Amino acid sequence: MAGRYLETMFTADVLAAQRKAYGAAQEVHGTPERDPLGAAEQEFIATRDSFFLATVNRDGWPYVQHRGGPAGFLRVLDERTVAFADLRGNRQLLSTGNVAANDRVALFLIDYPARQRLKLLGHARVVDADADRELVARVAVDGLRGKIERVFVIDVVSHDWNCPSGITPRYTAAEVDEAVAPLRARLAELEAQLAAKR
Ligand SMILES: Cc1cc2nc3c(=O)[nH]c(=O)nc-3n(C[C@H](O)[C@H](O)[C@H](O)COP(=O)(O)O)c2cc1C
Repeated sequence: MAGRYLETMFTADVLAAQRKAYGAAQEVHGTPERDPLGAAEQEFIATRDSFFLATVNRDGWPYVQHRGGPAGFLRVLDERTVAFADLRGNRQLLSTGNVAANDRVALFLIDYPARQRLKLLGHARVVDADADRELVARVAVDGLRGKIERVFVIDVVSHDWNCPSGITPRYTAAEVDEAVAPLRARLAELEAQLAAKR
């Protein structure tokens, strides 16, 4: 667990709630300003094909959007920076607009089969694709479908792993296909043997 995550999230209100409920608060002080992404975090991010992005609008309302793409489309640029391509979409630009008013974002990444989840906190900026073609090339991973209009670049403040309880293992269609491939092959083999005997 990265200390800065807890120091950031344990606001006075949160600490008060802990005190009221349990008689004591989990005060966290003196953590580094930022916690870099370690090897485990970088590997986890590089193998995800989706995540949730939370922004906050100028009125204080939270907003969450699902982002999906080929595995690794959330690119780790370095141990303190992640980025992803924002494709031409529904033209609402809610996340883009929110970040202009408040650059604080949270990312939620989950691996259902492994029952692991990782949260990131960071400051985001949105770069127009025409303004930085080199950056666009770095986030243009194979398999992305659509026109990259802009790039979200997130300076990671900290991260936090959660416990696996409550995560139901779920599998993608590709993972199910892979798992049942030997069964399908065996079925075909047995059907062929049966047909030969008829
Ligand atoms: C045809 C179409 C396909 C889309 N495909 C994806 C996609 O694969 N992954 C993704 O993250 N957003 C995709 N989007 C974009 C989202 O709809 C949305 O525009 C984007 O996530 C920005 O959302 P926001 O305004 O809530 O920030 C697609 C949009 C359209 C219209």
